[in-house]
This record gives sequence, structure tokens and C-alpha cells, in this order.
Amino acid sequence: MTIIVTGGAGFIGSNFIFHLMSAHSEDRVICVDKLTYAGNLSTLASVLGKPNFRFCKVDICDREAVYALFEEEHPDIVVNFAAESHVDRSIEDPGIFLQTNILGTSVLMDACRKYSIRRYHQVSTDEVYGDLPLERPDLFFTEATPIHTSSPYSSSKASADLLVLAYHRTYGLPVSISRCSNNYGPYHFPEKLIPLMIINALHDKPLPVYGEGLNVRDWLYVEDHCKAIDLVIRKGRVGEVYNIGGHNEMRNIDIVKLICKELNKPESLITYVSDRKGHDLRYAIDPTKIHQELGWLPETKFADGIKRTIKWYLEHQDWWEPIMNGEYTQYYEKMYGSR
Ligand code: NAD
Ligand code: DAU
Repeated sequence: MTIIVTGGAGFIGSNFIFHLMSAHSEDRVICVDKLTYAGNLSTLASVLGKPNFRFCKVDICDREAVYALFEEEHPDIVVNFAAESHVDRSIEDPGIFLQTNILGTSVLMDACRKYSIRRYHQVSTDEVYGDLPLERPDLFFTEATPIHTSSPYSSSKASADLLVLAYHRTYGLPVSISRCSNNYGPYHFPEKLIPLMIINALHDKPLPVYGEGLNVRDWLYVEDHCKAIDLVIRKGRVGEVYNIGGHNEMRNIDIVKLICKELNKPESLITYVSDRKGHDLRYAIDPTKIHQELGWLPETKFADGIKRTIKWYLEHQDWWEPIMNGEYTQYYEKMYGSR
């Protein structure tokens, strides 16, 4: 099979490519990525020379380039990870989120219709469900939970999901959608909570916790997410949504304290800063459907996954140091300078 993976030079997309290349060496994998600030070709160094792998620097909004690639490769499956993914950036400047996350999705699906692919899979997020109250730990997001978004990012992802379902109903496009909770692991861009706290702590810099740090996220090791998507594209039912999560809810402040402990850094580095606008309180996925239908269960416990992740950042400074010295410096100053 030929599988196009968009956004494969980013965090989850690259981990998904590594999973595909080791679990399905018979497949041909084509990575489509615009290489925005979040995409990094060096991440793919270990697969770039492989005969069954191809990298194409293409913007998913570029209809002509996307169609030309489909004409050449005739993919069987398209897995769309490509997106603007950071909530804080979407609050600063929503435009590019609408462009890539919504219009880019429609361009890809138009190409899928034109070239009759077997499956279009949309990598979505639990953020499309909005948030849950902190004082109701009995509530979880199921696939039937209404869409109710908070940020420009989550609204763009929800819009894309609606388009995907519309293409299925209207044109009969064979689609599936997965909605996952927060991922962590290798190659996570340093603007996100866990890598940001690890790298700041290593430099003895302040650890900026939004609000009181009581917001809850449901963390899943990235490899477990990749395995779940692989199951959905091969065995999941067409036209269906699958929630992915491992019942691992944690408060932000507890994650940051854990990172301090693992790195032997003082909690006095923790600095409470002004809250994110519209900050979602709690995410919590009910993964019953994917477990019952496809037999998926997470394999990595958070206690092990976070140790592995911290070790990875300690051993891969060559990956994150160039990022820290580039455009990221201005980003950090803008977002945190006066917070
Ligand atoms: P990321 O920001 O690390 O990577 C995004 C990748 O997409 C980058 O390589 C970037 O260059 C590429 N890209 C951006 N715009 C593009 C365009 N117009 N054309 C082609 N490529 C483009 O993101 P991530 O954290 O790996 O997230 C991947 C997907 O998973 C996103 O769709 C996101 O919404 C979803 N998701 C993420 C999480 C999470 O915790 N990170 C959880 C659930 C769902
Ligand atoms: O739930 C899935 C989503 O998880 C994905 O769809 C998004 O693409 C991904 O970025 C992530 O969104 P979050 O907003 O949950 O992740 P982030 O790492 O930005 O923040 C996690 C929590 O930590 C959130 O409550 C905000 C808080 N935070 C974040 C940063 C960057 C801080 O307290 N301080 C920070 O500096």
C-alpha cells in the first residue's frame, strides 16, 4: 500500500512514520509537509534514505501541488496530521489556523475524491468537545459528546471534522476520524507544556504555569496514539469517529512538579503567570469504543513514559538546541515576556 502522511515532519506525524516503517515495512510511505516553524526535516533523518520512503515539501493548501502528487503516487490511504497545532498561537493569530486546518483538509479530500483513495483519515483532537468541569471527575468525552469549542485552534479542528463527515455523507468518501487527548514523547516541539518545562528546568529558567496550574489534561504516550491510528486506518469502520485516550488525567502543576523532581531542580523555579484566554479546564477521554471494536489499549504508563521522555530530551540536545536558538527566541519573548 502507498500511504501519504501529511505533517510527518512534526511531533506525532514523525512518530507515526517511524511506527509505519517498522511495523509495515511492505508499505510505501510518503511524507507531505510544508516545513513550518513546527516541522523539522532533521527529525526524519533516520528514514530519509530508505527506498520505501519519500519526502515532499508541499503545503496541503496548494491544490495544484497536492493533485500532482496524487497523480504521480496514487495513494491508497491518506492520514492527515498537518495542522497548526498550538492553542496559544491560535489566540494570537487565528488566520493561518483556518487556512491550514480547514481549507487544507478540504483540498486533501478533494484530491482523495478525484483519485479514489481507499481511506482518508483525519487526525483530530479531544479539544473539539470543549472542556469538562473540574468538580465532575465522573464525566468523560465520548464520541457522542457534542462539539463545543473554546479556542480558534479547536474551532478550526472541529470545522475540519464537520467537513470530513460531510464529504462522507455527500460524496461517499471513505473517511475516519480519531480524536486523541494530549500526547507527549520524543520530538515534541518545545512550545508545548512538557518539553517547555523540561528545557526551561535544564536551563534553571522560570517554569511559567498558567493561572493556578489546576487545569487537567489526559496524557498519552505518542507511540500509543500512533498504534491506535494504525488500527483505525486498517480495521476501523468507515464514516466513524474513534476517541483515543488512556485515562491518565493530571493537573498541570503536578506535571511540572514531577519534572522538577526527575531533573532534581527546585520547585522555586515555578512561576505562576497570567492565564490562557478561554483556558479549557479539563479534558478526559472515554476510549471504550476503540477498545471494544479494535482491541486497542495504551501500553505505556505515564510514570515510565515521562522518564523516557525526559531522558530523550537530555540525550537529544542536538535536536532542540537549534530550535531554541531560532525563531523560537522571539516567540518566547512575545508570549512570555510580559506575562
Ligand atoms: P506539530 O505542530 O508538531 O506538527 C504539525 C506539522 O504539520 C509540522 O510538521 C508542520 O510543518 C506541518 N504543517 C503545518 N501546516 C502545514 C501545511 N499547510 N501543509 C503541510 N504541512 C503543514 O503538531 P502535532 O502535535 O504533531 O499534531 C499533529 C496533529 O495531531 C494535528 O492535526 C493536531 O491537531 C493533532 N493532535 C495533536 C495532539 C497533541 O497532543 N500534540 C493531540 C491530539 C491531536
Ligand atoms: O488535547 C489535545 C491537544 O493538546 C492538541 O489538540 C493540541 O494540538 C496540543 O497542543 C495540546 O493542547 P494543550 O493546549 O492542552 O497543550 P499545551 O502543551 O499548550 O498546554 C497544556 C496545558 O499546560 C494547558 O492547560 C496550558 C498549560 N500551559 C501550557 C504552556 C505552554 C502552561 O501552564 N504553561 C505553558 O507555558
